[in-house]
Amino acid sequence: MTDTASHTFLEGNFAPVDTEVTAWDLPVRGALPSDLNGTYVRNGPNPVAPDPANYHWFIGEGMLHGVRISEGKAQWYRNRWVRSPKVAAMQGREPVARQEGGFFAGLGNTNVVAQAGTLLALTEGSLPYRIDGELETVGETNFGGVLPYGVNAHPKFDPVTGNMHVMSYHFLDALLGYHEIDTEGHLVRTELLPTGKPIMAHDMALTSSTVVAFDLPVIFDLEMAAARRAMPFRWDDDYVPRVGLMPRSGTAEDTVWIEVESCYVFHPLNAYDDGDVVVVDVARHPSMFRADLDDEGDGSPSLVRWRLNRVTGSFSSEVIDDRAQEFPRINERFTGIPHRFGYTAEIGVSRMGGGADLTTSIFKHDLKAGTSEVHNMGRGRTGGEFVFVPAGDGVNEDDGWLMGFVYDAATDRSELVVLDATDLGAAPVAVVELPVRVPAGFHGNWVDHTALHD
Ligand SMILES: [Fe+2]
Repeated sequence: MTDTASHTFLEGNFAPVDTEVTAWDLPVRGALPSDLNGTYVRNGPNPVAPDPANYHWFIGEGMLHGVRISEGKAQWYRNRWVRSPKVAAMQGREPVARQEGGFFAGLGNTNVVAQAGTLLALTEGSLPYRIDGELETVGETNFGGVLPYGVNAHPKFDPVTGNMHVMSYHFLDALLGYHEIDTEGHLVRTELLPTGKPIMAHDMALTSSTVVAFDLPVIFDLEMAAARRAMPFRWDDDYVPRVGLMPRSGTAEDTVWIEVESCYVFHPLNAYDDGDVVVVDVARHPSMFRADLDDEGDGSPSLVRWRLNRVTGSFSSEVIDDRAQEFPRINERFTGIPHRFGYTAEIGVSRMGGGADLTTSIFKHDLKAGTSEVHNMGRGRTGGEFVFVPAGDGVNEDDGWLMGFVYDAATDRSELVVLDATDLGAAPVAVVELPVRVPAGFHGNWVDHTALHD
């Protein structure tokens, strides 16, 4: 590894780990719920020989961290790099077989989901990597279709059909791709939606009737690309921010575009139909990449509710909670339909590197009652996204658990923390002790054991 002590995103718990570990029969404080049978997997950057002069958190090679849970036991922890080209070269292994598509070979560093019996490690601009149940990289996939821009890393899963809906964007063309992939893993639909300029569109939203596309002012910058900047995107004050509402029963030509407030959204919480209105809850950043890619002067993200009327074109925005928060998640059985509860992590990106004086809280928002609950990790303990896992016999929307990795600066190790979503303020239900630290990362998911065809 090169000198990693000269960049915010290479220090503290942002620093990469340099070994792949397999640890069995992990110690558990408390009691893991007996009906949890599957694997929590989380993705994040773990750069190979990064250049501190041209590094950004978004461009490190992906590493998956997984904890297998069954019958109340934590059977194993594994961390494995996603075998992208630079990783394969570093490991002296053959690169995985490429498939046609994608703007470049992916880093596989942003998210990990299960579809059609396999895990997928995703990064925008590229094809997903197929990953097996022990986190080994198998190959790429283009879902048997044409995906010149790959797909982004935030698919939405229709809870009725199980189909995967995902966007893509291009670095040179002013358009967004919308794609639907069925439960057999086949690309069954693509629509191309024109945008104002080539933009970065990190995520999307989905309602029962509508695909929600974000056309916001983070644009591709050719000069930055020519200068070989790692992240050639910048804020554009002159760009008209819009949201596109495409009927799922229609085509791109049927999209209704509505001008919205100037801001950036990486992640919506959820969206749903309310008559002619599409309601979209988002983590709203005042702007993004305005001055410098590492600059946090853009301000903190808040949880905000948007209402977009597809008939009148009207737009309204209401702050739900102005505390700094990101990584919004719901009970995904409610994807596209009205949700009552949302879960977010209190965030300041620089704080995710951890430290003795830092801490993270997880918020539970009751959007019906207008209240919130907090779980604080304790001093020196920091984390990121917490995933909602519905209880197998759950009746209510919040019957289930929240889980995520927490880094403890005092021990320089991490834990998988499991919280009861119905009693967020209580002590964790269970804490799985890991023998290593898990670097700060992006997104994970709970993968039920029935979701993978091994
Ligand atoms: Fe994301």
